[in-house]
Amino acid sequence: MNNIELITLSKDGAIFYSDQIIDILDSDTIVSNPWTRQNVEIDLPGKWRYSSIAVSEDKVHGFCICSRKDLATVHIHKIYVHPLFLGYGLGKRLIAKMIDVCMCDEITNISLYTFISRKTAYNWYLKLGFEVSKTLDFNTRAFMIGKVAIIKRNLGETN
Ligand SMILES: CC(C)(COP(=O)(O)OP(=O)(O)OC[C@H]1O[C@@H](n2cnc3c(N)ncnc32)[C@H](O)[C@@H]1OP(=O)(O)O)[C@@H](O)C(=O)NCCC(=O)NCCS
Repeated sequence: MNNIELITLSKDGAIFYSDQIIDILDSDTIVSNPWTRQNVEIDLPGKWRYSSIAVSEDKVHGFCICSRKDLATVHIHKIYVHPLFLGYGLGKRLIAKMIDVCMCDEITNISLYTFISRKTAYNWYLKLGFEVSKTLDFNTRAFMIGKVAIIKRNLGETN
């Protein structure tokens, strides 16, 4: 695990790694993946500053794709660790790297959505100091039906 490097995702990196990122998203058995290469590669505010990718020898082991939602908030769109590397601390390293950059930029909030039925991720976020700020029924698209939690972490709190 030590040879896995975390690098800031650039637009060129997104283009280079997008097939591997999509493969990892496609391996998700809980929710069908609605993302295409275009979602990975598209420019969004702050995306190439707050997003990271975990790689070794050009192989993607995990990624955290984020963008700036407003002056004080960075939103996590997707955080995934390759199924072979779950539970080795990679997800935590990806979040920690993003938080370091947020702290430099005086970002005070991190937000994300997750399905409550996605128990592993849900409990994992709570363990990392995130809190549920709202829950809602999400049923506008066939591949996304269920109760969704809007989860936030205030960076003023330590964990
Ligand atoms: C959620 C996810 C990113 C976590 O990544 P990971 O690399 O497996 O997690 P880590 O190894 O960094 O976990 C770090 C800590 O959380 C703990 N942990 C792991 N899974 C946990 C769980 N389900 N509940 C509570 N704690 C958990 C670990 O024991 C470890 O604790 P420690 O630091 O005290 O030893 C990963 O499970 C994943 O990719 N899941 C599939 C995709 C997904 O659901 N993404 C989120 C979509 S919203």
